[in-house]
Amino acid sequence: MTVQSAQLVSLPRIADPRGNLSFIEAGRPVPFAIRRTYWIYDVPGGETRGGHAYRRLQECFIALSGSFDVHLDDGGARRTVSLNRSYLGLVVPSMLWRRLDNFSTNSVCLILASEPYDAEDYIRDYAEYLLEANA
Ligand code: TYD
Repeated sequence: MTVQSAQLVSLPRIADPRGNLSFIEAGRPVPFAIRRTYWIYDVPGGETRGGHAYRRLQECFIALSGSFDVHLDDGGARRTVSLNRSYLGLVVPSMLWRRLDNFSTNSVCLILASEPYDAEDYIRDYAEYLLEANA
């Protein structure tokens, strides 16, 4: 899996003077069935989240509020995507190392996930990730 296989998807956006609205439906535009969602919030300045890869899990990151950076690493190339729009999703396939940082004050990161939580799916050791990614 390469860092270029992560893709930004535009979510539907209903612009309205009363406030904008975006939505996600089963099957579109996120290219996997969503089986879990979680969100990261109240991140203290300078903190980092992630720092692991998943063997099977696919995820989509959305900056519901504020901004943060997603750093991707495939063991060879690296890529950083800054998210700061509520209508953009970053779809990240399995077997990519990811780290999130540079959270703005009051930012909220929504994550849509393809599988229920499974601690066994995590690769938390970078050396182990390199071994499995190159296998
Ligand atoms: P973790 O995935 O390590 O956080 P990060 O987003 O920084 O990678 O999860 C932190 C803790 O939360 C860990 O103890 C597992 C727990 N957790 C759940 O119980 N369910 C979940 O869906 C998630 C994402 C985490």
